[in-house]
Amino acid sequence: MSYEGFITDRWGRLCAALAVDEGQARAVQAEVRSLLHPWGSRRIGTACGLPSFVSADGFPAELSVSYRGERTELRLLFESLGRAVVPLDLQQAGRVLTRRLAGKPGVDIERYLVVEDLFLAANPARYRPTVWHSLAWLPGTAPRYKVYLNPQVHGISDSYGVVGEAMRRLGLSRAWRPVLEHAGALTAQGHELEFFALDLYDQQPRVKVYFRHHEMKLSEVDTVAALARRHDSARAARVRQVICGDDDVVVTDEPMTCLAFHHDSSVPEEANVYLRLPGAAGERVAEVMLAEGGDPRKHAAVLSGVPDCRPELFSHRVTEPGGPADMGVYLRFDAYSEPVREGEWSCGDTGR
Ligand code: TRP
Repeated sequence: MSYEGFITDRWGRLCAALAVDEGQARAVQAEVRSLLHPWGSRRIGTACGLPSFVSADGFPAELSVSYRGERTELRLLFESLGRAVVPLDLQQAGRVLTRRLAGKPGVDIERYLVVEDLFLAANPARYRPTVWHSLAWLPGTAPRYKVYLNPQVHGISDSYGVVGEAMRRLGLSRAWRPVLEHAGALTAQGHELEFFALDLYDQQPRVKVYFRHHEMKLSEVDTVAALARRHDSARAARVRQVICGDDDVVVTDEPMTCLAFHHDSSVPEEANVYLRLPGAAGERVAEVMLAEGGDPRKHAAVLSGVPDCRPELFSHRVTEPGGPADMGVYLRFDAYSEPVREGEWSCGDTGR
C-alpha cells in the first residue's frame, strides 16, 4: 500500500467513526491526498530510508481528534518526505508545501515567510523535525493549516535564540519575555524547547511553542503550563492524577507542553499538556473526558472504527475558566511491518 492510500484510508475511517457528512468527508479526503503529493504515491516500506520524527517508528503521519464540548475536530500531522534520500529533502519538501498552501481560502503564509530562514539548515539532522504541516478540520468549515518548525536546527543551545528572534519578527517579544526569563531554570529542570508552530490562517493566527519534559517529578511538568494566563493548575493536576497516577512519581516517558501566543498576546495565553497513554488507558481517558465536559463515546467509536491505531498522547487545555476542556487524542500507526530502532532503520518492503 502507498503512503497516501494508507493515510487517506485511515482518515476516511476516522470521518466515518465520527459520523461526519460523507460528501464533506470525501472532499477533505481528496484534499489530504493532494497534500501528500507527489511522495504519497510511494509504497510504504520501500522508501522509508529516512525516519520521520513524527512517530517513534519513523512513520511520517499521525491522526488526532480534538474534543471540546460538542465540537469535534479531526486533524492530520505529517512530514513531507519528498525524495527522502537526505534530511534536506524533507526540509525542502516542507518548504514547497507551505508555498503550495498559499493559494487556498483563508490561508496566509506571510508570517511563515518572515521567520522561515531562522529554521532552515544546510544539512538538517536525521530524525529531527524539519518543516511539518497539519490539517485541522471542523466539519462544516474549511480545513485549516499549521506549520511546525525546529528551534534546535542550529543546535540545542541556540533554541532560545532562534525562538526569541522569531518572536521579535512576529511582534511577540513582550509575550515571550516571561518564558525567556525562566529559560535557564526550565532547561535545568529538564524542560526542552522543541517545536515552534505557526497557524497559517489569515484570521487571528497563533504561535505555539512546545516543550518536551525529560525525567522529572510528574508535578514539575506543570511549571511550563503555569506560565500561561488561562492555565488551570488544579484541573491539570486532576487530569495527571487520572491518566498517570501519583504526582510524586518520576515521569520518564516525556510528556509535552505547548504554550500558545495569540497575535496580540502580551503573555502566553493557553497551555496544552500532552500526557503519554499507557497501553490500557481507555478507561482513564473516558473518566477524564466525563469529568472535563467531553463525550467518551466518540472516542470509543474512533478506537473501534480506525484499525491499527494506538492512542499515544492525551492532551488537555483550558480556554475559559470553568468551561469544558479542549481534549485531544493522538493516534499513531504501526504501518511499518517491523519495529525500527534509531540507527537501524529498515527499508524493506512491507508488502502493504
Ligand atoms: N514523535 C514526537 C513525540 O511523540 C513528536 C510529536 C508528534 C508530538 N506529534 C506530537 C509531540 C503531538 C507532542 C504532541 O514526542
